[in-house]
Amino acid sequence: MVSRVIPVDPFDLVLFGATGDLARRKILPGLFHRFVVGQMPQEARIIGTARSDMDREAFVDLTRTSLLEFSPVALDRGELLESFLDKIDYVRVDAAGTDGWNALAGALRPDTVRAFYLSVSPALFGPIASRLKDHGIATRDSRIVVEKPFGHDLASAKALNADLRQSFDEHQIYRIDHYLGKETVQNLMALRFANSLWEPLWNSTHVDHVQITVAESLGVEGRGEYYDQSGAMRDMVQNHLMQLLCLTAMEPPSKFTSDSVRDEKVKIIEALEPVAQSDIVRGQYRAQGAAGSYRDHAGNPRSRTESFVAIKVNIGNWRWAGTPFYLRTGKKLRARASEIAIVFRDPPHMIFPKMEGRRGNALIIRLQPDEGITLRNTIKEPGPGGFRLAEVSLDMTFADALDQPAEPQDAYERLIMDVIRGDQTLFMRGDEVEAAWAWADPLISGWDEAGLVPAPYDPGGSGPEDALMLLHRDGRRWREVEG
Ligand code: BG6
Repeated sequence: MVSRVIPVDPFDLVLFGATGDLARRKILPGLFHRFVVGQMPQEARIIGTARSDMDREAFVDLTRTSLLEFSPVALDRGELLESFLDKIDYVRVDAAGTDGWNALAGALRPDTVRAFYLSVSPALFGPIASRLKDHGIATRDSRIVVEKPFGHDLASAKALNADLRQSFDEHQIYRIDHYLGKETVQNLMALRFANSLWEPLWNSTHVDHVQITVAESLGVEGRGEYYDQSGAMRDMVQNHLMQLLCLTAMEPPSKFTSDSVRDEKVKIIEALEPVAQSDIVRGQYRAQGAAGSYRDHAGNPRSRTESFVAIKVNIGNWRWAGTPFYLRTGKKLRARASEIAIVFRDPPHMIFPKMEGRRGNALIIRLQPDEGITLRNTIKEPGPGGFRLAEVSLDMTFADALDQPAEPQDAYERLIMDVIRGDQTLFMRGDEVEAAWAWADPLISGWDEAGLVPAPYDPGGSGPEDALMLLHRDGRRWREVEG
């Protein structure tokens, strides 16, 4: 299949924190890829800013090195690399001070889309936003892009929102949750709202329960200090898993516009029922051989931070009352694999002999790796000698079905192009972030107040035993998720 790429309007993208890790690994390679496929117009420019005292040439060198290291296409497309680097500029700016702002103002063109990407600590969001406004750099149509962590609780998220809104309107603020840039996550919307097959079944009359799993095989090595202040609940559940839950559970929006979609997502978060502590399992990985434990990686021998969470969530609305959603995510599990499993109820009356181990119908949406869908069915086992049932899967891997290009797109490149287009559909609105914190805060403070310690689990498995019990006691079981 030939991908059709529609170029975006000319833009000036100002990248704050341009020498940082995220810029080098994700943002610059993502932009380069959009250039290679022809989506970036000739007049586009990328202006790196940071505190480092370097000139344009040094920043271009750094960009070249980053692309050669982190872009899957840079080595093959050397001739395009140099043309891309022509678009790069650098202005030294002291984000929280006074230096460099006039030079930055002078570097931008009038009547061109302006986007300010803040790949910096959240403590700098407010100071940068106000300086952009005070120096007349932010126009009414400019966009500002911010990354998670977007607060560590409701109060801090509200404060960040208030800081940004002093200088930018909500329609100019793009809060990135990179899960929304993943192809299959968006495919959830296509699957649900571009097909008539699923909608009649997509409710508690037909769905027994839903499992959302985001499993990772890596630990927190190298970022233990940040992670220990955060834990799986803040790092993954409040944002990424919450987005998956919303897209799975939300009502069909009346239009595919940013506010229609985001209104429906907020309604789901607001409909979440309070979660009892007995419906949450927290875990922390042990050491394995020479590989250290979570506490070793976090550098905190007494840490109570969770590297695994499983939660049973109930949505109090007409569609989902009586259908629990089980969420789980963790580090150092068997595989890196994420999926959403919609598990359907059994037929109301079974005329066939009981089949040992029958799991019933399920629609499994594989998010990564090997993106695709599987529909589990029960059929008759072939052959004479009695009527036995067997389970088979209808499998579709999107890459095979669509004959997709070998290079997968990274979530960031899609999201940055949406910023330039002015499309906020795949970005979190301020009230959405706050609603998600309002839900997560009491769970986290409940643990803290009870002084609970996470259950230890062995690396390479499925998390702590208690997580299995969370479903067993409801007569259900987790799917084995394969990488
Ligand atoms: C990040 C978290 O937001 O998402 C990480 O901070 C996590 O802890 C990562 O590993 C997972 O993203 P992906 O795209 O690899 O599934």
